[in-house]
Amino acid sequence: MKTIETLEDLREQVRIWRWAGERVAFVPTMGNLHAGHLTLIAEARARAPRVIASIFVNPMQFGPAEDLDAYPRTLARDRELLEAAGCDLLFAPGVASVYPRGSEVQTRVEVPGLSDVLCGESRPGHFRGVATVVCKLFNMVQPDIALFGEKDFQQLLVIRRMVEDLDMPIEIVGVPTVRESDGLAMSSRNGYLSPSERALAPGLRRVLTAARQSLLAGNVAASVEREAEAALREAGLAPDYVQVRAADDLRSATEGDRDLVILAAAYLGRARLIDNLRVQLDANAAPQQTLR
Ligand code: PAF
Repeated sequence: MKTIETLEDLREQVRIWRWAGERVAFVPTMGNLHAGHLTLIAEARARAPRVIASIFVNPMQFGPAEDLDAYPRTLARDRELLEAAGCDLLFAPGVASVYPRGSEVQTRVEVPGLSDVLCGESRPGHFRGVATVVCKLFNMVQPDIALFGEKDFQQLLVIRRMVEDLDMPIEIVGVPTVRESDGLAMSSRNGYLSPSERALAPGLRRVLTAARQSLLAGNVAASVEREAEAALREAGLAPDYVQVRAADDLRSATEGDRDLVILAAAYLGRARLIDNLRVQLDANAAPQQTLR
């Protein structure tokens, strides 16, 4: 596996593959890789003869009080994992080559609506940073396909919308969340959990599963959300939000909506955990099922 740090070298390599008629799949990451990332690489391998991963801890998507400096940088180990997973090229640019004028004066990509709710409300500017860096990385790599984990469900929708709105010829593939054996969604930030917090963390998934059961049993979204927040507190987590939303655009679920997603974020010590669960309501179910 090659590691490339400059845009010039990246473009040269991609040009060679394109001349050979090879499709390119791309997995953008911020490093500190886990089995979830490696599943993205495996899925990329299955879909294209050439796989590129990037590692770039993007300052633009971190808020001023967030963990940019503490975010684990584990490049040597990440390289080994990527190579073993069959990645062809690692693109690992420095901050100065992604934002040569500084990220404050960088042209930005806004995805209105989708970016302002849920995690966007708690982390103002986060999705602007994500959309901007992913747009730049797409322009640098020019992939045919790009893969993202469904754990970051809102991020996936923001990127899909950006690609649609800006007519980018890239297929966006969402890959199911990879979980620990106790149900905790894999995340680079799980490493922030102390042993006692780690023991509480699967409570997030348990609460989401109970919320799904409650929705399927016909309870209305607003009461499901309230009960889930209380259950999170009881499980030792501090809820940021639990929301039942339409799975296609994250609007608040109303009568006709059948394809739903329950999204939650909760604090546990230093970590802010997120997770989500899709819910498909019976098409013949009473319409009041999701009324607030
Ligand atoms: O999901 C992530 O790791 C990041 O948000 C991404 C998509 C690599 C953009 O920095």
